[in-house]
Amino acid sequence: MSEENSTEPNLDYQGGRPAVREAHDAVRREKPDPVADSSNKVLISRVVVAGVILVAASLYFNAYSNTFDRSDEFIHPGYVAAPRPSLGGGPVEEKPWIETWMADGKKVYNSCTGCHQASGMGTPGLFPPLKGSEWVNGGTERLSMIVLNGVTGPIEVAGASYNNPGMTPWGKLLSDEKLAQVLTYIRRNFGEMPDGKSGVVTTAMMKVARERHGDRATQWTVAEMESVSADAELPGEEVDLNTGESAGGSVEGAESAESPESE
Ligand code: HEC
Repeated sequence: MSEENSTEPNLDYQGGRPAVREAHDAVRREKPDPVADSSNKVLISRVVVAGVILVAASLYFNAYSNTFDRSDEFIHPGYVAAPRPSLGGGPVEEKPWIETWMADGKKVYNSCTGCHQASGMGTPGLFPPLKGSEWVNGGTERLSMIVLNGVTGPIEVAGASYNNPGMTPWGKLLSDEKLAQVLTYIRRNFGEMPDGKSGVVTTAMMKVARERHGDRATQWTVAEMESVSADAELPGEEVDLNTGESAGGSVEGAESAESPESE
């Protein structure tokens, strides 16, 4: 050490202690470094043994521990969980089909409020009301013609005459389903349906309407619509308001109900 680093002071020596290197040399002489090969063999066999123990232990644990599930100690057979408070505490109820159908119809009606107003009262002198309108209260066939192709005045609605650039044709913009929903919405919400009439317009009915009247480039005039009787109903089956499934039976004493039901 003193030969190699002669300029550095030997602190150990100066401190009166044996040199660190000498101590290490002594240790190395007594315990030679283990040879890599043999030590690897020892290590692998230990890992294998440990692995076997681990697998055996987990199998044992799995078989006898019931995986920490102690529910059988607290829950009796036949137990039924109480409804969650966040669900209103009552049994979970399915919404009747008609509620969803009307809610969807209300969304579609957002396209109409600009002119007919959310209240369905229209704008005096400009846009006719849907509330109290004989067109809404009347048969579904004329009503479907109005939304499919639009209508242009003059038109009498609830005792007043309107003659505006006219009503937008919606047939190209809205699907049969959306049109059926919005017609159901305005009939049930603004219309006065006689007892026993649900006011529902189904997608199937709207499909028939489109087949009959959809292919038309211009808006209807009132005179043209008179070729269809004011109370003519689109053919189709009554639906169960809870399920939306066909309830059998034709709609509402329909005039055009002679058309085959399986359309
Ligand atoms: C751009 C304004 C406008 C929009 C939007 C509009 N309408 Fe109309 N609607 C009219 C006008 C105007 C008339 C009457 C025709 C006329 O004056 O020439 C009319 C007439 C009607 C009629 C027959 C008369 C009555 O009041 O009952 C119905 C039914 C109707 N619209 C339903 C709808 C529905 C459903 C929508 C939405 C899908 C809608 N309208 C969107 C302007 C509009």
